Amino acid sequence: MKSLWFSSGISLLVLLHAALIPAVKAEDPYQFITWNVAYQTAKILGVSQQVIGINGQFPGPPLDSVTNNNLVINVFNQLDEPLLISWNGISQRKTSWQDGVSGTNCPILPGSNWTYEFQLKDQIGSYFYFPSLLYQKADGGFGAIRIANRVIIPVPFSTPDGDINFLVGDWYNTRHQDLRRKLDSGLPLGSPDGVLINGKGSFGQGDYSSVTVDPGKTYRLRVSNVGTVSSINFRIQGHQLLLVETEGSHTNEILLDSLDVHVGQSYSVLVKTNQSPSDFYVVASTKFQPNVLQGVGILHYSDSHAVASGPIPPGPDPNDINFSMNQANTVRRNLTANAARPNPQGSYHYGEINVTRRIQLQNTAVSLNGHQRYAVNGISYLTPDTPLKLADYLNISGVFTLGSITDFPPQQGTAPVLLSSVFDGDWQAFIEIVFLNTENEVQSWHLDGHDFFVAGYGIGSWSEASRHDYNLLDGVSRSTTHVYPNGWTAILFPGDNAGMWNIRSQTLYRQYLGQEIYIRFYNPTNSFRTEAPAPANLIRCGRAA
Ligand SMILES: *[C@@H]1O[C@H](CO)[C@@H](O)[C@H](O)[C@H]1NC(C)=O
Ligand SMILES: *[C@@H]1O[C@H](CO)[C@@H](O)[C@H](O)[C@H]1NC(C)=O
Ligand SMILES: *[C@@H]1O[C@H](CO)[C@@H](O)[C@H](O)[C@H]1NC(C)=O
Ligand SMILES: *[C@@H]1O[C@H](CO)[C@@H](O)[C@H](O)[C@H]1NC(C)=O
Ligand SMILES: *[C@@H]1O[C@H](CO)[C@@H](O)[C@H](O)[C@H]1NC(C)=O
Repeated sequence: MKSLWFSSGISLLVLLHAALIPAVKAEDPYQFITWNVAYQTAKILGVSQQVIGINGQFPGPPLDSVTNNNLVINVFNQLDEPLLISWNGISQRKTSWQDGVSGTNCPILPGSNWTYEFQLKDQIGSYFYFPSLLYQKADGGFGAIRIANRVIIPVPFSTPDGDINFLVGDWYNTRHQDLRRKLDSGLPLGSPDGVLINGKGSFGQGDYSSVTVDPGKTYRLRVSNVGTVSSINFRIQGHQLLLVETEGSHTNEILLDSLDVHVGQSYSVLVKTNQSPSDFYVVASTKFQPNVLQGVGILHYSDSHAVASGPIPPGPDPNDINFSMNQANTVRRNLTANAARPNPQGSYHYGEINVTRRIQLQNTAVSLNGHQRYAVNGISYLTPDTPLKLADYLNISGVFTLGSITDFPPQQGTAPVLLSSVFDGDWQAFIEIVFLNTENEVQSWHLDGHDFFVAGYGIGSWSEASRHDYNLLDGVSRSTTHVYPNGWTAILFPGDNAGMWNIRSQTLYRQYLGQEIYIRFYNPTNSFRTEAPAPANLIRCGRAA
């Protein structure tokens, strides 16, 4: 079928397009990928340990594609437990069926495989994928996603001489099964053991990551924080970072000595190799944590015969919130630049759209049945036996109740509850969510299925007056935002992607222990124009089996 459509002429395509054949996008190329997900052993931070690799690689292979390409990814689960791969920041337009989180998909059982099929519709930029179930992300299974522009749509900087992934993140020397068991029995995990750069520990402490570059060139570095807890500051000895992109937004170009990347975020920077030939330290260090952990890799000039020397660049004070917030506030969309579409990013005036739904999400640490849990608006998420999306589609009642979570935090003193909570999202609403952080830690929140505009960060409590300070002009649109300790972050987005979408804490132990929710967008005229039909290979489980 596909090959027929591939070979068909333009007039046929136009005809088919006009007839609105559902869910087939014959005009865009297909990429076929096979992944074998399995445990492997790696020596990390001096310790031989279990990691999750893909096709024998740890981190997993980069997923390189182009705006609007269709991906067909056949995932073989060779682990001894259920698996789902999710796509951090890939908006899955009309296809929450492919989102790969527990609320949308039945898991791929051990020894079996399942084929994801989705389009990178109107997307460009830097993202990553990861295993979303059972704390597996703490063992790896993640990899970079890079979506290049279509040739007809120029990006706002010249094509770099190279494109290098830096997957950075904190790491525990403990198998995910053991971390999970600890959490299940109500114990804290304690501090991570180190910081990895591309799956390797630190220079001077065993195996480390080394990247070779040629002198006199410009490289695009894609930095994603694939860790589970810690915000990371990224920097390179003797080099400045020119910020150009974050999660699909082309930013105003700003020169930085170092860049804060919070859990689940992705950025692109351009780096000029304009120093005399040598080796330089690449540093990823934790922020806002009791102990600073750091991973050190090497940027090796191809004509260098010197080893890296001098002090490892210390970076900003890891507890300086002002530094971090000032930097976050200078990350702005370049309004005249293109993104995935030919029109400039600034042609979408999000600040002029009236907000029709306001939600405030307050995180709390709670105790339920004597166990440590985490909650949003008083509800600690309970993963149901049947994915929400499937229950919704098959009209299975009793799995969840729409609107079972309130738009505002409950009154203080309200007892927390365990529930499969789903927001009833108004179709085509323009939504403000304010994340309220009442704790002394940085938080990071992610929304699936949509990019949102970051309108502002604040310290202290949020009030109506905080809206006066919103950036309603050139906030970046992205899918993960951080929230400062005892502060708030406000986001704005149109609820225009029909489906069941996960809102989660990117701090893995918090998400695992209940800090996630779903929001359902549904078009009452339920046509295939707004949501793709269930895929033919739909897995059924739980009450849908
Ligand atoms: C599993 O893989 C085989 C190819 O080995 C493929 O034909 C089949 O469609 C896959 N199953 C699913 C459910 O995707
Ligand atoms: C951070 O900024 C606030 C407001 O501008 C100021 O009151 C505070 O002293 C600053 N803190 C530090 C550590 O610089
Ligand atoms: C914004 O993008 C344009 C290309 O559309 C580019 O010429 C300009 O330098 C960029 N501005 C900044 C501040 O990065
Ligand atoms: C937004 O609301 C204001 C006041 O309610 C109204 O005058 C205006 O037309 C609305 N704007 C849009 C774009 O709907
Ligand atoms: C579920 O209920 C809706 C509305 O009552 C109906 O249109 C739809 O066909 C039902 N779906 C299934 C799979 O029974």
